[in-house]
Amino acid sequence: MGIEIIGIGSYLPEKILTNADLEKLVETSDEWITTRTGIKERRIASEIEATSDLAIKAAEKAISKAKISPDEIDAIIVATVTPDMFFPSTSCLVQKGLKAKNAAAFDISAACSGFIYALSIAKDSIKSGTFKTVLVIGSETMSRVTDWQDRNTCVLLGDAAGAVILRKTDSPSDILSSYLGADGNYSDLLYMPGGGSREPATYKTIDERKHFLKMEGNKLFKIAVKAMADSAQKAIALAGLTCNDINLFIPHQANIRIIEAVAKHLDISMEKVFLNIHKYGNTSSATTPVALEEAIIEGKVKKGDIVVLVAFGGGLTWGSVVIKL
Ligand code: ACO
Repeated sequence: MGIEIIGIGSYLPEKILTNADLEKLVETSDEWITTRTGIKERRIASEIEATSDLAIKAAEKAISKAKISPDEIDAIIVATVTPDMFFPSTSCLVQKGLKAKNAAAFDISAACSGFIYALSIAKDSIKSGTFKTVLVIGSETMSRVTDWQDRNTCVLLGDAAGAVILRKTDSPSDILSSYLGADGNYSDLLYMPGGGSREPATYKTIDERKHFLKMEGNKLFKIAVKAMADSAQKAIALAGLTCNDINLFIPHQANIRIIEAVAKHLDISMEKVFLNIHKYGNTSSATTPVALEEAIIEGKVKKGDIVVLVAFGGGLTWGSVVIKL
């Protein structure tokens, strides 16, 4: 028995925010952002778009590519740290939007690693026989938790959604392995302090800008390189492969320098590394599914190729999935 990706889709909001636009908002420069991060522009959701709207658009594309009816979906898993609201879950709103009336629905909160966590759970739930067809979505409106006065973070983030549909199959295509990790001791390096049960929303928390993402980028940098390289190595070994067997490496797109350092660590040539950070920045859990779809559309991978998805994010969390297309 295998697990096939029968459909994949993404949605990028129309509005583009360039480095030149950011120069007007905070004290920064295109030169700084480009050389320190690799980002040139990012997408921003419109005022009427919430995370579930992006997710539904990406999912509709994936459903159409898979040529299935929404009724055939047994479960919807949405990875997000920017849900429409605390509850109901964004996945329930997606279920309603898609009219996927037979699907169970739940969200995963693992920041930028959320899609990898969700894909791993979907794989295991299909392998165990719980579900046959699972829709996995990474969807984020990071612009809604971005402090547009903080140059340390506002240049990095963007909005997007990516969706894949997995189905039990007899074909040899498969999700070969996954590896997930976390370290809550570093939870204060990337977090949003306000609005939860610890500091519910008050005028004071709003005045103190606690409803925006806070990040210690410099400290995260080193941990990100090690965690991404280690988790990729572990997932590749679990699949019974080596780095030489990998046709395309799709890392989380948080910083071009992190990606280059991870590739060096793994001794993988940058020619085998997929990049779209210049166009979208860091879209958290949407990053890897959006990149996977682009890699397929651009012909960077073909049927039978081995692809590794690797992510790292707030929590801290990290994870890798090895896929045979
Ligand atoms: N424009 C101009 N200068 C800036 C900007 C900016 N946008 N941002 C920071 N600087 C300044 C700083 O103030 C600092 O100035 P100082 O030396 O006078 O104090 C200087 O640039 C260097 O700052 P650093 O933080 O050391 O810069 P660094 O090279 O580390 O780059 C960055 C910062 C891009 C954030 C990097 O550290 C990074 O990418 N970190 C990892 C991010 C990450 O992986 N996050 C996890 C995933 S995200 C998620 O889960 C949602």
